[in-house]
Amino acid sequence: MTVAPPEKPAEAGKPVAKGHPSGDNRFKMLEATMKRHQYQADALIEVLHTAQELFGFLEMDLLLHIAHSLKVPPSRVFGVATFYHFFSLKPQGEHTCVICMGTACYVKGAGNLVAAIERQCNIKAGETTPDGKVSLITARCLGACGIAPAVVLDGQVAGYQTPESLTEIVKGWMS
Ligand code: FES
Repeated sequence: MTVAPPEKPAEAGKPVAKGHPSGDNRFKMLEATMKRHQYQADALIEVLHTAQELFGFLEMDLLLHIAHSLKVPPSRVFGVATFYHFFSLKPQGEHTCVICMGTACYVKGAGNLVAAIERQCNIKAGETTPDGKVSLITARCLGACGIAPAVVLDGQVAGYQTPESLTEIVKGWMS
């Protein structure tokens, strides 16, 4: 029988990036962003951006989770999320393809991924196909640079993408 090593104790006074009881890995990435900003309320817009990039839209539970983590009143979080037009509180297309355009992904060809999906779906980044099937979103660093170029496909992080591998997946969504 193998025994898992004990978890390293957190450094005193430093916030620890935790997962989420749901086990959804995107919460870990969101947590890493909040930790990078030391859970400062001032980072709210930045954190909402990251949340939208990871989840495609900002649902109520997610807003509450952010409010709780940054110790900001939920009313303020809802206010900011509804004030700026670049935040969406509703799901976009049936399928969401988020392509990371952060530095590590960019140098590994993320631009080619965006161009390939724009061509395939006949939309620009930030748009949804007229039939509502596919939304294409670009993000800054998703926190998965080690598997660049990284994308999030319907909430699942996928690394080492090529235009061929990605268009094959999107082809499946569109059929
Ligand atoms: S730059 Fe793409 S995951 Fe970090």
